[in-house]
Amino acid sequence: MSSIRLQRFLARAGAASRRGSENLMTAGRVQVNGVVITELGSKVDPDTDRVTVDGIPVTLTDTRHYLMLNKPTGYVTTMDDPQGRATVAELVSDARIPGLFPVGRLDRDTSGLLLFTTDGELAHRVLHPKWHVTKRYVATVEGRFTESQLQRLRDGIELEDGPTAPATVELLGARGRTSTVAIAIHEGRKRQVRRMCSAVGHPVITLERTHFGPLELGDLPAAQWRPLTDTERGALLSAVDMTPDSAPSASDASPDTASRTTPDADTAG
Ligand code: URA
Repeated sequence: MSSIRLQRFLARAGAASRRGSENLMTAGRVQVNGVVITELGSKVDPDTDRVTVDGIPVTLTDTRHYLMLNKPTGYVTTMDDPQGRATVAELVSDARIPGLFPVGRLDRDTSGLLLFTTDGELAHRVLHPKWHVTKRYVATVEGRFTESQLQRLRDGIELEDGPTAPATVELLGARGRTSTVAIAIHEGRKRQVRRMCSAVGHPVITLERTHFGPLELGDLPAAQWRPLTDTERGALLSAVDMTPDSAPSASDASPDTASRTTPDADTAG
């Protein structure tokens, strides 16, 4: 095999997303043939070079895993929290899939659909603005929306980091002093849905992600995970212009047969 960029190698090997792989490198955690490599343009030959992360060998594998978790509130979206808080890693540890990492983030106080994979290229694409993957949230908020407030959310609203792109917004109901609204966005800014609702005067009480691109949370119980079906995996890959052929399924492979162990790696999202 010819040389490829080290961060691409790490992402394809499932060490982390592409951005997460760059972070591993700049943090000095990656060695090639025993030498720490921090230079992002560096190349490796997967056939001859020995790559390690924190001293643990990383190799390319054709087996890529995809699963969804119904994240409960109270868990931080990271595979390793230096502050010792409860993390989503605990909820998927029984999958025993080395190199698994969450795609993007849900806030600690947000529940719902969180995608995990070992496929760094897929993760890179679904988080990239070019592919505009839509995320749908159901928010219960304080107060009652007026039609003009809903329209402002739809049209795009000014936040401190710039205006939001147009969103799909549907009022699902109003009860007492609260309302429930479904908001579909394709951006992924920090606490975006919470900030959008607050900007029109309705602080979020609870927030759940129900859809991620073509994936639907459905009735998956809280704190449970399941592998994506072949149909879901195909739909997800085609949403970001990848094909199942370029990303072989792991559905028939036992995690126990995986050929390597990689350390937990945080992902940006
Ligand atoms: N928007 C938020 O405010 N929080 C999330 O976790 C996801 C989207």
